[in-house]
Amino acid sequence: MNDRDDVTLVTGGSRGIGRAIVEKILEDGRRVALTFRSDPESVRKLEEIWGDDVRVFPFDLADRERPQSLIHEIETDMGPIGALVNNAGIQRSELTALMSDASWDEVLDINLGGAFRLSREALRVMVGRRRGAIVNIASLSALNGVAGQSAYAASKAGLLAMTRCLAREMGRRNIRVNAVVPGFVATDMTSGLTQDAIDRLRSHECLPDGVTPQDVARVVAFLLSDDAAGITGQALPVDGGVSA
Ligand SMILES: NC(=O)c1ccc[n+]([C@@H]2O[C@H](COP(=O)([O-])OP(=O)(O)OC[C@H]3O[C@@H](n4cnc5c(N)ncnc54)[C@H](OP(=O)(O)O)[C@@H]3O)[C@@H](O)[C@H]2O)c1
Repeated sequence: MNDRDDVTLVTGGSRGIGRAIVEKILEDGRRVALTFRSDPESVRKLEEIWGDDVRVFPFDLADRERPQSLIHEIETDMGPIGALVNNAGIQRSELTALMSDASWDEVLDINLGGAFRLSREALRVMVGRRRGAIVNIASLSALNGVAGQSAYAASKAGLLAMTRCLAREMGRRNIRVNAVVPGFVATDMTSGLTQDAIDRLRSHECLPDGVTPQDVARVVAFLLSDDAAGITGQALPVDGGVSA
């Protein structure tokens, strides 16, 4: 299903879970196009550290025009895109009764609309080649209620629904679409949480050591690989057993 020379596109690949995904895919001997939104100078340094197998591309998920030119630039610079990881996202912690329309719209538009728009453009090139794989990074909030996260949870639940629909639309074209559902992972996104909040989120984990960005990255790499050739439309929790 995969061509080893195909490029894997990872959104938000310069830090957190996205960075661990990039490192894992490089370790597996594949080439990566990663997108960033902020801090171009330090991101460009990553190209120097990681070498020729990585290229970095600016991309803001809110930009509705950009997906088409992004896919074109990557394919022109690096060759065919065989895999897409919709990793980039934002989280806002706000009680629903106090949330503005703008805040709701932003979270839904970035996390769900952005993944939709980029997937649409990536699928247009994958369909012609009749090969490809997409992994969407959802969240346990899509499955379990978390106070203060209604917009975020709705965006991630939408991503799971989109994953299943795309799997049905694209299966006959030899394109697989799956999701990973991380539990709590220590990254910039969760760095503002109090210890109490972290303890609450982790209280139902079965495993003692929690979940690292690398744990998530290994599952993403598996779902993109031919080892997962029979899997599509699935959402795989990487949550230390919270959903057990
Ligand atoms: N950490 C967790 O506990 C956890 C749990 C479940 C799911 N997740 C999901 O995992 C994914 C990665 O999260 P993380 O924890 O690694 O978060 P993070 O450290 O905050 O990284 C977020 C990434 O998303 C990018 N990004 C944010 N807004 C963007 C925009 N408008 N356009 C383009 N890129 C944008 C950032 O790019 P720049 O750095 O260039 O701004 C950054 O690379 C997210 O989808 C998140 O919802 C995380």
